[in-house]
Amino acid sequence: MADLSDYTFLVTGSAGFIGFHVSRALLGQGAEVIGLDNYNDYYSPALKRDRDRELRRHEKFVSIEADLADLPAVEALFANHRPQKICHLAAQAGVRYSLINPFAYQKANLEGFLNLIELAKRHQVERFVYASSSSVYGGLTELPFAETQRTDTPISLYAATKRANELIAHAYSHLFGLPTVGLRLFTVYGPWGRPDMAMWLFAAAMLKGEAIKVFNYGQMERDFTYIDDAVQGILGALTAPDLDAYEIFNIGNHRTEPLRKVIALLEQELGVKAKQELLPMQPGDVPATFADVARARAKLGFNPAIPIESGIPRFISWFKEYHKPEQD
Ligand SMILES: NC(=O)c1ccc[n+]([C@@H]2O[C@H](COP(=O)([O-])OP(=O)(O)OC[C@H]3O[C@@H](n4cnc5c(N)ncnc54)[C@H](O)[C@@H]3O)[C@@H](O)[C@H]2O)c1
Repeated sequence: MADLSDYTFLVTGSAGFIGFHVSRALLGQGAEVIGLDNYNDYYSPALKRDRDRELRRHEKFVSIEADLADLPAVEALFANHRPQKICHLAAQAGVRYSLINPFAYQKANLEGFLNLIELAKRHQVERFVYASSSSVYGGLTELPFAETQRTDTPISLYAATKRANELIAHAYSHLFGLPTVGLRLFTVYGPWGRPDMAMWLFAAAMLKGEAIKVFNYGQMERDFTYIDDAVQGILGALTAPDLDAYEIFNIGNHRTEPLRKVIALLEQELGVKAKQELLPMQPGDVPATFADVARARAKLGFNPAIPIESGIPRFISWFKEYHKPEQD
């Protein structure tokens, strides 16, 4: 890995799940990190503040509270801190929520994205890495998903905005030579994870003795990526030499796991039998994801190493610790 101690990175969504871990890893390598987040209440802002508090322990971390859609605020950030590389992870995430609150996606994922990439261009940043999503593969059934497959059939607004990000990045790379790297992340999980995602929802419900909602009657398969593996891939995207001006990579575990196996591992770790409410497929969701990671291996040195058999126990151990009642 290159020496990062001379670098200033802008990490957007630094109080979010993945942004927190990426910021921590960059700081651990001696880089300066400017972290931006708006602490919105899509899920617990307290959890976001807790992550930010952890990051503020590092002397080379600068925390900025601002909304990406606020162009003057983002302009001021660039003028004051002059980041050399950008890791853009802030977004309105979630497939299901995009059916309920479409304008949150317009603001964060379209307006916010355009503001940031335009400033990246104006300030001639060395690399603009941004989170896309496995959801851009839409309803494709040919597995595993490879970057060469067509992705013009998104089946949710969330997926459409992520695909739009890739198309905007292509135009900026082509027109202005801005080096961009889009990462199609596949279901990332682990400590400090997201309370709106299945793994957290299941663990929380099981500990309370409540039923878990199992969609598509349990006929779901996901490529689950442990957070440390995702971070390794993201750091590769920020530092790998010899990338083209426009790049797209899958970041997954290259394994697809049935949901029932996840439930069984959670039962084992929590010592609780899950009560299951079997429900039909949710609109916008896909039955299976599976990442072909050959490109990321070859160009980013990406090497996913943590299967769910060891990742789920690590998540549960953190989950229990985080929710432990305060002791005097
Ligand atoms: N976690 C996954 O499995 C997964 C899978 C595919 C893609 N992604 C993408 O990866 C990125 C990070 O995901 P995550 O799981 O860490 O999500 P997250 O919701 O935990 O983090 C996103 C952060 O961005 C912040 N944010 C949102 N809109 C903002 C705005 N307009 N201005 C400033 N901050 C804003 C939020 O407050 C949040 O802290 C997102 O772009 C997401 O779409 C995640």
